[in-house]
Amino acid sequence: MFAKQSFWSKYGNLFIKGTLITLALAAVAVVIGSILGTVFALFKLSPNFLLKAVGNIYVEYVRGTPLLVQAFMVFFGTQVIGLNLSSFAAGALAMGLNSAAYVAEIIRSGINSVNYGQTEAARSLGLSKGKTMRFIILPQAIKNILPALGNEFVTVIKEGSVVSVIGVGELMFQTGVVQGASFKPFFPLLITSMIYFVLTFGISRALGYAEKRMARTGR
Ligand code: ARG
Repeated sequence: MFAKQSFWSKYGNLFIKGTLITLALAAVAVVIGSILGTVFALFKLSPNFLLKAVGNIYVEYVRGTPLLVQAFMVFFGTQVIGLNLSSFAAGALAMGLNSAAYVAEIIRSGINSVNYGQTEAARSLGLSKGKTMRFIILPQAIKNILPALGNEFVTVIKEGSVVSVIGVGELMFQTGVVQGASFKPFFPLLITSMIYFVLTFGISRALGYAEKRMARTGR
């Protein structure tokens, strides 16, 4: 019991737990962000003045305020309206709401990147507006959107460290625990940075590979 335990046997499980929560947080945030982001992108592209305004204001406001502030606002704001979310739920919601604004811009610019001549050609061949979007514009837009969405996932993994401030037990939070318990301020951070790097580098490599395959097969 009093034998000196190694750093790993004492704190290894905290790093593992933190990493798993970081990944879960990013996964939930990306799902929320992709769904809401698509909605806001469509709002921004809508001819309806009101929807367009809502889309623009949301995207500009979220991108123009720090995630740190948004995380606190979601955490305390949900309590004010009587919702008692766990810190994980509040953190994932804050990250998802934040990511939605960036995803909306990715999708909007992906759709805009398809030359307008494509729309004109499709329309003059007699395709309706909806069919032009579905069969001509979107298949081409997705090629520009998917890689950018992959980058967003990598960003969300890193930015998840911010919601440690509302007590989400992700990697950065656990690092603080280890720093305190081990009286070592630097070493745990070094481990954590390496874990983040392995995650983000691994994912961007995998995405780059998928991207190349897609370019080759044209699908
Ligand atoms: N660091 C940025 C901020 O504090 C958050 C960026 C989030 N980016 C993203 N692509 N989801 O506002």
